[in-house]
Amino acid sequence: MPPRRALVTGASSGIGEATARRLAEDGYRVALLARRADELERVRASLARPDEHLALVCDLRDDGELARALERVRERFGALELVVQNAGQGYLARVEETEPHEVRALLELNVAAVVSLARLALPLLRAGDAPTMVLVSSIVGRRGIPGQAVYAASKAALNSLGEALRVEWAADGIAVSILDVGLTRTPFFQHQPNPRKLSGPNLAGADDPARVAAAIAELARAPRPELWLSSKWRLLAIANVLAPRLADRLLVRKLGGGWRAPTR
Ligand SMILES: NC(=O)c1ccc[n+]([C@@H]2O[C@H](COP(=O)([O-])OP(=O)(O)OC[C@H]3O[C@@H](n4cnc5c(N)ncnc54)[C@H](OP(=O)(O)O)[C@@H]3O)[C@@H](O)[C@H]2O)c1
Repeated sequence: MPPRRALVTGASSGIGEATARRLAEDGYRVALLARRADELERVRASLARPDEHLALVCDLRDDGELARALERVRERFGALELVVQNAGQGYLARVEETEPHEVRALLELNVAAVVSLARLALPLLRAGDAPTMVLVSSIVGRRGIPGQAVYAASKAALNSLGEALRVEWAADGIAVSILDVGLTRTPFFQHQPNPRKLSGPNLAGADDPARVAAAIAELARAPRPELWLSSKWRLLAIANVLAPRLADRLLVRKLGGGWRAPTR
């Protein structure tokens, strides 16, 4: 069987790096995309069969760079069986502390670039064998969270995109899976803007990125509409639809940090 071909965004660090490693171990040829050339090269060189993989230095916010990156994938791989839309950033700030340029930059990366990549990757996925796109979302995408409102809103938009694309691409036989990732031990929390130096989450019980990578590999093998990596947050998301006041109270209790449940 010919090797399967994957594109992983945000492959220079954290979950994307672990995913590129896992897919290479599973026999995939992997196109790794991110901005930092040195980190991308470090990851590519550390994968199984390094010469089979492709490092793409690209800022996802730049449509021209992204189109050129996809053209290189087409020249080198011809088609794709898997696209993992993983690159993303957080923003730790109350809404009243947010800066408009930071809000736009986050939405450009976490939402607009996902649309651009979906559009540009579609011909390559159509040419692939049993293709899948995995959207790396978050447990906060189904329930807004104080102090991370803009980030949570971007993941809610991502989930909505995934639901729409799943149906739009059904006629092409392309599966689309949403992965709701829980707290994971990566440099994500150092990379996010944090203007008031709010304290980030305690990573003591956080997942290892290899667990997320294994879930992505599983979705590529057997796609599902949505996979949650935290059953507690899944229950919170269900409560949020049925009884939002109860969800507020549960969320505030879980978060601590002085947040209060609304009384009106
Ligand atoms: N860690 C968690 O607890 C957690 C929980 C839920 C969901 N997630 C989601 O998981 C995904 C991966 O996050 P992570 O935890 O692995 O964080 P990370 O270590 O900070 O990785 C983010 C990746 O995105 C890339 N990236 C950032 N801006 C980019 C841009 N403009 N163009 C191209 N690439 C860009 C970064 O590479 P360069 O800097 O080299 O460009 C890096 O490879 C994100 O979508 C995040 O929202 C994470």
